[in-house]
Amino acid sequence: QALKIVTLLGSLRKGSYNAMVARALPDLAPQGVIIEALPSIRDIPLYDADVQQDEGFPATVEAIATQIRQADGVIIVTPEYNYSVPGGLKNAIDWLSRLPNQPLAGKPVAIQTSSMGPIGGARCQYHLRQILVFLDAMVMNKPEFMGGVIQNKVDAQAGQLIEQGTLDFLTGQLSAFSDYIRRLK
Ligand code: FNR
Repeated sequence: QALKIVTLLGSLRKGSYNAMVARALPDLAPQGVIIEALPSIRDIPLYDADVQQDEGFPATVEAIATQIRQADGVIIVTPEYNYSVPGGLKNAIDWLSRLPNQPLAGKPVAIQTSSMGPIGGARCQYHLRQILVFLDAMVMNKPEFMGGVIQNKVDAQAGQLIEQGTLDFLTGQLSAFSDYIRRLK
């Protein structure tokens, strides 16, 4: 049957290379697989248990959680900051982790990191995997997508990922992730 996959973007900037990767995905998805972007994490406040207690969860966190619950899988698309997970993405995950009926528990997840460095955010990828252990997400092991020197693989003017080898690899990963989701169902 048809699958719905949602993407969570770890970069906030307008010219984000990771946003270009995320935007390429819907056209690369196998037949019968729909890929949609989750709301931006931009306006999620810093996690504070007092805020959670007094004001509840931010609307954006609730909206992201609802869409994750309704989806068959999640792809996290993110840069690496200082050899690890960008603070904004970690903050969003921290909020999500405090929700009753925590939405990533048991959820198939794939990770895509891209960076300007040669190893494409590999170190972030393994830190992110460690975080997702505690959230009990079902993170696909392979294929791993690490987009190195990503600035050379895009048309920055058009805001598009254009390097054919990278597009082909992503097509393969999406196919593998769809199979992985179906196996887990
Ligand atoms: C970076 N960048 C970076 N790159 C990398 O390969 N490894 C790293 O550890 C870091 N660390 C880092 C920290 C901070 C605070 C910034 C702002 C940047 C460079 C990074 O790959 C580059 O800025 C990308 O363009 C970020 O991805 P987006 O925003 O283009 O999606």
